[in-house]
Amino acid sequence: MDERTPTAVLGAAGIIGQHFARLLADHPHFAPPLLVGAPRSRGARFGDLWTLAEPVPSALADERVRSPGPAELARRGVRLVFSALPSGRAGVIETDLARRGLDVFTNASDHRGDPAVPLLVPEANPQHLELLRRRRTRGVVVANPNCTATGLTLALAPVVDLLAPASIHVATYQALSGAGSPGVPSLAITDNVIPLIPDEEEKVARESGRILGTVGPKGIRRWPGDIVAQCVRVGVRDGHLEAVTVVARRRPTLRALLRRWTEFDPLRERALPTAPAPPVLVRPESDRPQPLLDRWAGAPASARGMAVSVGRVRWDPPYLRFFVLSHNAVRGGAGGSVLNAELVRSWLAEGSPRWGPPR
Ligand SMILES: NC(=O)c1ccc[n+]([C@@H]2O[C@H](COP(=O)([O-])OP(=O)(O)OC[C@H]3O[C@@H](n4cnc5c(N)ncnc54)[C@H](OP(=O)(O)O)[C@@H]3O)[C@@H](O)[C@H]2O)c1
Repeated sequence: MDERTPTAVLGAAGIIGQHFARLLADHPHFAPPLLVGAPRSRGARFGDLWTLAEPVPSALADERVRSPGPAELARRGVRLVFSALPSGRAGVIETDLARRGLDVFTNASDHRGDPAVPLLVPEANPQHLELLRRRRTRGVVVANPNCTATGLTLALAPVVDLLAPASIHVATYQALSGAGSPGVPSLAITDNVIPLIPDEEEKVARESGRILGTVGPKGIRRWPGDIVAQCVRVGVRDGHLEAVTVVARRRPTLRALLRRWTEFDPLRERALPTAPAPPVLVRPESDRPQPLLDRWAGAPASARGMAVSVGRVRWDPPYLRFFVLSHNAVRGGAGGSVLNAELVRSWLAEGSPRWGPPR
């Protein structure tokens, strides 16, 4: 008998949904998902909807896309739902599922500001799982942040206390897949960059401040400094590159900063299949990271695309400058949610202990 948790992917035909299918087709803890699409995709063969460059998983290629509502998903015995629904439409459905006792791991933005929903990057803020104790639903809802905030906060988490930043500035070069499908028209982006991604700069600042914040009896206390973002769309398929400048109050040595990054591996003991070891790779080359070369960083094979690559580190106090690259649809999308679910499973199995003192 298959003892893995029965799962479903909502929005399975979209970019994030397809990555979910890839990651869940042969997962040790979660059973291959029921593929849920919008009504117009109902009955379609999943392999015929596939648009990623990576191959469609053979175990799911012949599956048909279905469109059950929350009640039917619960009746079918689904316990864990991965949501790749469009933001705006996702929130009501996700809350309904959690009320019925299903656990929801979502990419959509609707629940990211909810005081009972952890906005989780497992290596950066696992202590935010404490918020789950405030929930009013039987099932949990756990959100992953905006794909740009994920790469930024994962790169900053190991060094932020050493630097005590007054402010953090980021300029981004964001991939096309971040816009979902059908995305940006080819004639608009070919031979071009577009210096506007609606609402992105606000999301990066708001969500990064929350992730870097501390959790206490009254909920999350945001990280107190300024986070200033400028976000640009470029003609790259996958992988968001970010140019980061930290204005520091403290003066650690460059060696201490590099050691923090290279030794950072807080999930090591948990053996989570989608956790990259290590999660932050520091590139020594003068021209890395690059989307084409570094988007799939991450080992073991089950964590491909889950590591972020940091490079061109320059420390001219008070300014720390570096680039960080992360796969927006894997680390910043489906893989982030799968890792969140693995962490929650492992935490619940331990009896949901309190995390150590907040950062
Ligand atoms: N792309 C990224 O890098 C990224 C990263 C982080 C977070 N996110 C978030 O993840 C979510 C999915 O993004 P995406 O890029 O995969 O978008 P997408 O390619 O547009 O996919 C969304 C999918 O959801 C389907 N859908 C719409 N309503 C549905 C319903 N009621 N039930 C089931 N399926 C439904 C859509 O089908 P139709 O096309 O037929 O309507 C579409 O296939 C969004 O909330 C996005 O903000 C995306």
